[in-house]
Amino acid sequence: MRSFFRKSVDNTDNVKNIGEDGEAYIDRLLGEMTLDEKIGMIHGKTFFKNGSVERLGVPPIVTSDGPHGVRPEFGDDDWNGLNQNDDYITYMPVNSALASTWNRTLAYEQGRTLGVEFRGRGKDVALSPGINIKRDPLCGRNFEYMSEDPRLIEEIVVPFIRGMQLSDVGACVKHFAVNNQETERLTVDTKVSDRALYEIYLPGFKAAVQRGGSYTLMSAYNRLRGRHCCHNKELLDDILRDKWGYDGCVISDWGGVHDTKEAGETTVDLEMSVTTDFDDYFMAEPLKKAVLSGDVTVDNIDRKVKNILRTLYRLRKIGPDAPLRKPGTYNAIDHRKTARAVADESVILLKNEDKALPLDPGKVKKLVVIGHNAMIRQALGGGSSELRSLYEITPLMGIKMLLGGNTEVVYEKGYEAPILLNRLQTWQETSTDIESVRASHKKTGAENAEDQKELRERAIEAAKDADAVIYVGGLDHIFDAEGQDRESMTLPYGQDELIDKLLDVRPDAVITLVGGSPVSMPWLSKAKSLVYMYYNGMEGGNALAAVLFGHVNPSGHLAETFPVKAEDAPAHANNTFGAKELVEYKEDVYVGYRYYDTRGTVVNFPFGYGLSYTTFGYSDISIKKVSGNGGSVDVTFKLENIGNRAGLAVPQVYVRPVNPSVDRPIRELKAFDKIAVNPGERVEVTLSLCAIDFSYYSEESGGFTVDHGEYVIEVGESVADIRIEGRVKI
Ligand code: GLC
Repeated sequence: MRSFFRKSVDNTDNVKNIGEDGEAYIDRLLGEMTLDEKIGMIHGKTFFKNGSVERLGVPPIVTSDGPHGVRPEFGDDDWNGLNQNDDYITYMPVNSALASTWNRTLAYEQGRTLGVEFRGRGKDVALSPGINIKRDPLCGRNFEYMSEDPRLIEEIVVPFIRGMQLSDVGACVKHFAVNNQETERLTVDTKVSDRALYEIYLPGFKAAVQRGGSYTLMSAYNRLRGRHCCHNKELLDDILRDKWGYDGCVISDWGGVHDTKEAGETTVDLEMSVTTDFDDYFMAEPLKKAVLSGDVTVDNIDRKVKNILRTLYRLRKIGPDAPLRKPGTYNAIDHRKTARAVADESVILLKNEDKALPLDPGKVKKLVVIGHNAMIRQALGGGSSELRSLYEITPLMGIKMLLGGNTEVVYEKGYEAPILLNRLQTWQETSTDIESVRASHKKTGAENAEDQKELRERAIEAAKDADAVIYVGGLDHIFDAEGQDRESMTLPYGQDELIDKLLDVRPDAVITLVGGSPVSMPWLSKAKSLVYMYYNGMEGGNALAAVLFGHVNPSGHLAETFPVKAEDAPAHANNTFGAKELVEYKEDVYVGYRYYDTRGTVVNFPFGYGLSYTTFGYSDISIKKVSGNGGSVDVTFKLENIGNRAGLAVPQVYVRPVNPSVDRPIRELKAFDKIAVNPGERVEVTLSLCAIDFSYYSEESGGFTVDHGEYVIEVGESVADIRIEGRVKI
């Protein structure tokens, strides 16, 4: 019998110290610099580069967005884009899709692929990954983020960063921290308890810098406890530097610095922004004046410059290894294979009654595909994560490519939606001007009913005499976009009425939703089959078709809860989401399933949920305490594929304290794996937990603590599908 073993938190230290020679090397460079040269290095000289010191052979750090691919090229000071047509790239699945694979190896491969692409485009730092907690389903940037659960984020972000940095490209984990809404993001002040900060909002970043070794980190726009994150002493000095020992480079979000003295005295190292008055940035001439007047010490400047030099050294842009720097490339064929592998494993099968899926291509002579999202391309949208993809297989194209020419495929748009601008949007030029940001929020969605009615009726008519019907709807980057939050979870463009009426005539219609965040589903009980796919990169259409027609057995699992409606979400229930001045995280640690599960709120689909075309059985759990190296608890169980086709299982381990001394979520994810199991095969799985997995953050002791007592260890395929459990006394 095959067996698998995995430690829940792989603590092998990964941060690459540059050693005494390296530190001496950067000290020598620093020692030769003038104040002007130092100041020139710590702020943007163009939109995406800082200043260099050519006299000493110190090059600039060249940054570029975004989280799932290299953003199109801009000039030094012009947000219109160069439009030289040389910046078409590999468009990977977004982070929400990547997290839905629950596959650490794919996270590593995605990061590695992106590292090669960024290097190939001549970049040094990728402004990626975004890992903010999905506090509420309406946050406009959720598609760029991974999950509502810190442990899942940790386990995906660490391999992602390690893979990326293999190519001498620095990751830039963002946005540090508690940047969980887009509404008034430039100024909103966040009030959050220490416990929620340390248990929920910081672990992903801590893992990213300590275990992932992220060379850089981006501080967020918003405030934390009254201070802008970009120069927040508690966040950057006390926690990031002193507690976590971080010696990398902190880059401000673009326009996130608001005060010269505060920025001068905290360890934000590089101020970037969106305006062309580069020498007037807070950390440019004004900071030089502050140093000359003695208001800010030159030591503070030196610390910033050293963090930048240390990053250039790690990137092998300076130092003895510079000649060995990797060249990278972009659009290599294996990059697209990785994009496809991630896309295949991210598709989530949510409903499949009466084995409606997979469809049998041989039995489908006439197929009707309905929905605007079947044929639009999503890459060039969403804000700073916009991309020019070398190509993008839409769902309709993926379906046609799979079926070939003997199946008649009839397409009906079904509803009207505005086509996203087919050019770079110059939105970023005014993205820090709060009035223009507010003015830009004219949301469409309720297209004029007359046109929709005609399109809807055409589609439903066409659906009547087809062997099969596939609906492809959902959201787009008019709704999933930076700088704004959605106003509701309702599907736009009148889709609910279309789906409802379609299911009346074709209850067997396959409902597929493509988007970046959860939507409400008033028609859910009428649908027999339902598939959700996050914006899934250039190969997304192929991945969806492969799942629908059974070439791929779906293995995606939800990394966030799909509530029935936004009002059920904790940040809506306590009426704090989208607050314009002070957003108070009153739900504390009860974010996502920690809230719904503990309160017993009915949701459409729970955290961790995802169906397969086969079935897995769990048995024979044993819990063993292992002494030595801090002690661990080994959770061993049998996993069996009791169906008739190979599949990938995602066993999840939840820890449930029996008599907690403080109020705690009923259960929390502490370990998981993704395991291929053949039909009829049984495998033995051991997932090993350590002390941190049983702990909570105690505000009185100011640290993590473990209650002695009994814990239930649960193993299942979602928070609501616990299959086996055991107990352990700590
Ligand atoms: C944007 C985003 C950030 C992005 C940066 C550069 O406003 O908040 O994620 O990397 O500015 O475009």
